[in-house]
Amino acid sequence: MKSRIQFARVPRIPPEHRSRLVRTLDHPFFAWAGLRPPIAQHTRAEHEALMRHARRARVSVEIGVAEGASAAGIREAMPADGTLYLIDPFHLSRVPTLNFLKRAAQRTVQAAGEGRTVWIEKFSHDAVRDWSLPIDFLLIDGDHREEAVEQDWRDWSPFVALGGVVAFHDARQFPSGWPSPDYGPVRFMNRYFRQGSPPDWAILEEVDSLVFVSRRNRL
Ligand SMILES: C[S@@+](CC[C@H](N)C(=O)[O-])C[C@H]1O[C@@H](n2cnc3c(N)ncnc32)[C@H](O)[C@@H]1O
Repeated sequence: MKSRIQFARVPRIPPEHRSRLVRTLDHPFFAWAGLRPPIAQHTRAEHEALMRHARRARVSVEIGVAEGASAAGIREAMPADGTLYLIDPFHLSRVPTLNFLKRAAQRTVQAAGEGRTVWIEKFSHDAVRDWSLPIDFLLIDGDHREEAVEQDWRDWSPFVALGGVVAFHDARQFPSGWPSPDYGPVRFMNRYFRQGSPPDWAILEEVDSLVFVSRRNRL
């Protein structure tokens, strides 16, 4: 792994235990300006797992980019002739013309790997309207409400190729980890993949809060 990234710690440090300076430095401006590494919302083990699954993917799609930490890992790992599609509306910036979250993400991803990247600055449910390509690796890490995770799954999973992999972040409780049973991705994962068992899909691997599922058959 070449990218310099600040990974999520387990257990997470509660905000009230973090100094004012550290909280100020969380602003994406500081990542864009190169004054701190990009902040990942995932652990090092999750990052390595994402890289492992992206390694053979000619077409990777990430829903939810934030500062670009997971995207950097995917780009670094994917084949040189692969393409990484990055979907995020970057809508939360208080000053949209500056949008330091988007700038930080661009800087982070540009510095990692050489594969082609395509930025799609839209909500995933809008981006899917123009989508037609088979996907080898899909990371769902956008809107975390249960119904939104389900919509991402229903919208995007039909494009996943046979043997392709979908990763859900924040979808699993793990020792000292942050997801609670009422997290949207945890609820969707439990309801859809653990209580139900979709015939064409199987859980492939689980690493911290990440769950990887793969397509066994064409629908
Ligand atoms: C948890 S963060 C992503 C973290 C990132 N994958 C990482 O590991 O570094 C969630 C991101 O999803 C974006 N987002 C929220 N709703 C979305 C949607 N419907 N489609 C795409 N992105 C969305 C937010 O703007 C935010 O940047």
